[in-house]
Amino acid sequence: MNIQTFSNHEELSEQTAQHIFETIQQKIGETGTFVLGLATGASPRLMYQKLVRILGTSELDLSELHTFNLDEYHPIRQSHPQSYFQEMYHGFWKPLHDLNSSFEITNGHILNGENPKPEFECRIYEKMIQKAGGIDLQVLGLGINGHIGFNEPGSEGDSRTRQIDLTPETREANKEYFGDDLEKVPEHGMTMGIGTILESKEIVMIVTGEKKKEVFEKLQKLNKPTEDIPASFLLTHSKTTFYSDLA
Ligand code: F6R
Repeated sequence: MNIQTFSNHEELSEQTAQHIFETIQQKIGETGTFVLGLATGASPRLMYQKLVRILGTSELDLSELHTFNLDEYHPIRQSHPQSYFQEMYHGFWKPLHDLNSSFEITNGHILNGENPKPEFECRIYEKMIQKAGGIDLQVLGLGINGHIGFNEPGSEGDSRTRQIDLTPETREANKEYFGDDLEKVPEHGMTMGIGTILESKEIVMIVTGEKKKEVFEKLQKLNKPTEDIPASFLLTHSKTTFYSDLA
């Protein structure tokens, strides 16, 4: 397991943003294109602020930068303040476009929580990722139950983008974003599958905060993947780095 440890969240976010910027800069320099996979949630938030600033103030032509988010609640309106669409619009796409207008907001892709046919939405999303050339670098956060995206324990290593039922733990962990009202947390989500994630050329997993300590310790003791901890499938991926501020 390739783990990089930092003394605090600020430093972790700065270094991770710098690494992602350099990776984007190199490939855009060579081919003009880059496909960045994004996660929502607290873990990458500060890193995104830093990445947006570095990318936005660079001279890079970002017209062929595409982003694909891992997941979205279902059903949820894109205008809902807690939709992942809104989180990315305000936390990444819009501020990046405002700083560097070569980045098109329409190149920020996310599963549409409004689609009444989620399985169809998921199939189209896989095709869009393939058409864009596959994900060059995928950012992940770690769920307290070991999930990645909304791939909850029990998800298969070769799973594809699909609709899922959220577990009680995940709904409980996310209720703070819905006015602490569990009833308001959607019961389903759509997520890239583990197989889809593992096709990314590079994976950057951000592990931050005391709440992740227990699952991260379990993960480090494993020598082969288990469906009980979906993040353990990353052990089979040749270019995954865990960026952590946990001692
Ligand atoms: C969200 C996602 C989730 C989170 C995970 C950790 O798009 O992919 O798997 O990364 O639940 O969430 P935070 O970072 O809020 O602790």
